[in-house]
Amino acid sequence: MSALEQLKASSADSKSFFLFWGVNIFDDMSLSGYTKEKSSIVVLGLNIHTAPVEMREKLAIPEAEWPRAIGELCGLNHIEEAAVLSTCNRMEIYVVALSFHRGVREVTEWMAKRGIPASDLASHLFLLRDSDATQHLFEVSAGLDSLVLGEGQILSQVKQVVKSGEGVTGFGRNISGMFKHAITVGKRVRTETNIAAGAVSVSSAAVELAVMKLPEHSSDSARMIVIGAGKMGKLVIKHLIAKGWTKVVVVNRSEERVDALREEMKDIEIIYRPLTEMVASAAEADVIFTSTASETLLFTKENVEPLPPVSSMVGGSRLFIDISVPRNVGACVSDVEHARVFNVDDLKEVVAANKEDRHRKAMEAQVIIAEESKQFGAWRDSLETVPTIKKLRALVDGIRITELERCFSKFGDDLSKKEKKAIEDLSRGITNKLLHGPMQHLRCDGSDSRTLSDTLENMHALNRMFSLETDASVLGQKVRAKVEQSRRETQ
Ligand SMILES: NC(=O)c1ccc[n+]([C@@H]2O[C@H](COP(=O)([O-])OP(=O)(O)OC[C@H]3O[C@@H](n4cnc5c(N)ncnc54)[C@H](OP(=O)(O)O)[C@@H]3O)[C@@H](O)[C@H]2O)c1
Repeated sequence: MSALEQLKASSADSKSFFLFWGVNIFDDMSLSGYTKEKSSIVVLGLNIHTAPVEMREKLAIPEAEWPRAIGELCGLNHIEEAAVLSTCNRMEIYVVALSFHRGVREVTEWMAKRGIPASDLASHLFLLRDSDATQHLFEVSAGLDSLVLGEGQILSQVKQVVKSGEGVTGFGRNISGMFKHAITVGKRVRTETNIAAGAVSVSSAAVELAVMKLPEHSSDSARMIVIGAGKMGKLVIKHLIAKGWTKVVVVNRSEERVDALREEMKDIEIIYRPLTEMVASAAEADVIFTSTASETLLFTKENVEPLPPVSSMVGGSRLFIDISVPRNVGACVSDVEHARVFNVDDLKEVVAANKEDRHRKAMEAQVIIAEESKQFGAWRDSLETVPTIKKLRALVDGIRITELERCFSKFGDDLSKKEKKAIEDLSRGITNKLLHGPMQHLRCDGSDSRTLSDTLENMHALNRMFSLETDASVLGQKVRAKVEQSRRETQ
């Protein structure tokens, strides 16, 4: 089984993902050289399948901080490129590691500094490398790894990673190429398969959960309140309309967003309440949806305990349905009598149904993903020739300049400026013409696998013929330069 298959077959309570494909990053640190020819694409992360929300929320990184996180990750000695995919369902770090083992250790330590000890992380963290890492991102983008199969929000989030990475040093060629390719995959899967047909979202699953928990005859009479009028809040309201609700209270910091919702959704009466009236508004509600980007809890045992009881007609318990990560409703609220709390992880209950349909739709999407993964792998392989192209050009140019200087010194001051320029142009013309053929045979975009394997063969032949350095030593040089830079920065 590949690492990715093992990850899929595992569950949140599995032991360390590091260990079960034979890589114990905590022990295997003794490698001294950089023997691998190519850097590795690695993803390290926690997601809804491997870790509970209380752990994911501690590591969540708000979008505004992604560029800073990329900078910090690329400041590590063995990390060259990075991206952060932090959503309510996942917190995944994608990196290009110059050395796999060292890179993984550095990223794990970096994550541990964010509040979870490495030993606790290890049993919830998953780790995938190269083609497994790429395939995983493509599946994520296609909505195959989502709680709600085929949901569209994740594709928007992947697009957001690319948008916020624009111009950020460290969101480099490999990682940005992979994320851009993931967007193509996400779009292809949704247009060429019926994965998104009738696909629900986290917000519709939240409304569905509320309906499931309310007594059958009472569901459309229950008083609904939505805290947060952002993307998720809006979707919750849309699904409430679809379920027949005609009135909802919306609590938000600012009124503008609520006005916009009112403008857009004429089929429901939307009553605005400011955040300062949140608890008073909750006192008059039976079901409370929370969907804000607040980093701190909005509901705690202390402010929920004094709320008046709800009618037995709606089940006698006030339902808190919290789709925010970090959570908006404290876990301790469930200790309050007549209060029941559900978070994003509890939505599994809603989507667990219809597993067979899920499997069938996923299989259709896998065909596209396999095709695109192969294409991306070939593109990445084609980048391998870039160092050879650079080195060969530098070698030839070095020879040209040395010979040119030797020639000029023989003439002393006898050559005019014009003559010198003519000789220099001649030397450049000859080398360019000679290099044209080899350069042509080193370039390919990876779209044709036969051309690609010929190109890689040419590359190895040229490396041998001209004694160009191997990629392994290029990696070594990069690492030494990074170590030197971080040493200078800490001095
Ligand atoms: N986007 C998704 O696909 C998705 C899916 C599932 C869950 N979630 C979770 O749902 C939550 C909201 O996501 P979103 O995509 O709807 O975000 P969003 O569109 O950016 O909206 C954020 C909302 O949170 C409010 N807010 C921000 N900071 C606040 C604070 N300190 N106190 C109170 N309210 C605050 C904003 O109020 P103002 O209008 O006043 O700024 C706005 O209503 C997040 O926790 C997210 O992780 C998102």
